[in-house]
Amino acid sequence: MTKRLLIKNAAQLITMEGYSNNPARKEEMSQIGMIEDGAVYMENGIIIEVGPSADIVNKYQDSIHASEIIDATGKVITPGLIDPHTHLVHAGTRENEYAMRLQGKTYMEIMEAGGGIHATTRATQEASHEELFDQSKKRLNKLLLHGVTTLEAKSGYGLTLDHEIKQLEVAKQLNESHPIDIVSTFMGAHAIPLSEKSDPEKFVSKVITEMIPEVAKRKLATFNDVFCERGVFTPDQSKRILEAGKTHGLIPKIHADEIEPYGGAELAASVGAISADHLLRASDQGIKDMTDAGVIGVLLPGTAFFLMADFAEGRKMIDSGIAIALSTDANPGSSPTLSLPFIMNLGCLKMGMTPEEVLTATTINAAHAIGCADVAGSLEAGKKADFTIFDVPNYLTLSYQYGMNHVDTVIKGGVPLVVGGHLK
Ligand code: NIG
Ligand code: FE
Repeated sequence: MTKRLLIKNAAQLITMEGYSNNPARKEEMSQIGMIEDGAVYMENGIIIEVGPSADIVNKYQDSIHASEIIDATGKVITPGLIDPHTHLVHAGTRENEYAMRLQGKTYMEIMEAGGGIHATTRATQEASHEELFDQSKKRLNKLLLHGVTTLEAKSGYGLTLDHEIKQLEVAKQLNESHPIDIVSTFMGAHAIPLSEKSDPEKFVSKVITEMIPEVAKRKLATFNDVFCERGVFTPDQSKRILEAGKTHGLIPKIHADEIEPYGGAELAASVGAISADHLLRASDQGIKDMTDAGVIGVLLPGTAFFLMADFAEGRKMIDSGIAIALSTDANPGSSPTLSLPFIMNLGCLKMGMTPEEVLTATTINAAHAIGCADVAGSLEAGKKADFTIFDVPNYLTLSYQYGMNHVDTVIKGGVPLVVGGHLK
C-alpha cells in the first residue's frame, strides 16, 4: 500500500534546491530556495513534489485521507538537519576535566597527563557492546529531538583493532535499528595510546597495516579521519595514514589545525580529502589550498566555544570560496552538546555567517561533507522525505533566539518521529 503524506501551509519552506551535484559556495550559500506558504507531498518516504500550498493541495489533497495531512501553519520547514562530524559512540563523560579547564588547565595539558581522549578511551574499552549501544542511542534520540535526520559518527575511542571494531559495529547496529541515517568514519588515529607513547611509529604502522585493512574488509566505514595536531599525529604521519586509507577505498577527512596551525588544511588539499574539519587556526595558505582543491570546510564552533578558543574564520573562508558545513563535533571532551541549532547560532554570532549561510551549512553542504547529497540535504523530488519543522514564524528566528529547542516535528523517510517536540 502506498504511504502518503502531505504537509501544507508552512509559513516558509526552505528547499535548498539546486546544489545536489556540487556544494554551495560563496553567494550560492545564501540561495536557500524559500517558498512562502509552502507544501510538500511524499509517497513511500520519497519526495514527490514541493511548491506553494495552493498548487500542491489542489493537486494531491483529494486523493489522500485527512490523517495523511500535516498542517504547518505558522511554522518553518527545512530539510532534515545533517550533522557531519560527531563522536557519537563513546562511553562516559568528562565533567571533571571541564572543572579543571575552568581552573586554567588546557585541553592538551589534560590529554598529555593521560586524561582527555585517553580517559574516554578507557571508558569505551571497558564498556560492553550493549552499554555503548544504549548510551549512544540516547544521544541519537536527543540529536533527533534537535532536528537531525542524518549524521556522521567516528570511531577513535577504541585505539586497538578490537575496540575500534566494537565502536564501528555499534554505529552500524544503530544505523540499522534507529531511523537516523549514520555514515561511519574510522578514526583509529585519534590519539597515540598511552601504552605506545614511547614508539608512536609502531602505532602508526598498526593503524596502516592492521586496522585500516580490517575495517575496510568488513565495510565498517566510508571515511578515514586523523587528528593531525602537534603532540598527536604529525602531518607526515597523517598523510601516510590517509593515503593508506585511500588504497583501501576509505575517503580522507582530517581534524585540521584545531589547536594550532600545523599544516592540516594544506594536507587536506594535497591528499584530496572530502573535508577538513575544525580549522580554528588554519593558515592563509591552507585556506587558499582548500579553496583551489575544493575541500569542504566543516566548522565546529561549539568546540571553540567550549574550549574558550578563537573561532574559525568562517566569513573569510566562505568569501574565499570554500564550501562550508557546520557540525556539533558532539563528544565528551571538547564539545559536549547535541544541539545543532545552537551551532547555527554560534555560526552567526561568532564566525560572521548569515542566517541563510548557516542553514545551507547544516543541510545541503553538510550532506556533501559526508557524501550523501544525492539522497539528503534538500527538499527536491526524488530525495528522501526527511524534514524538520520548527515552531518559529520565519527562519531568521532560528539563529536569533538561542539556547532553545524550536523543533516541533521531525519526519524521516516520510514517517513522523518527533511530534509536538516529543519522540513519538
Ligand atoms: O574533534 N580533537 C580531537 N577529537 C575531538 C575531541 C575528542 C575528545 O576530547 O574526546 C574533537 O575535538
Ligand atoms: Fe571531532
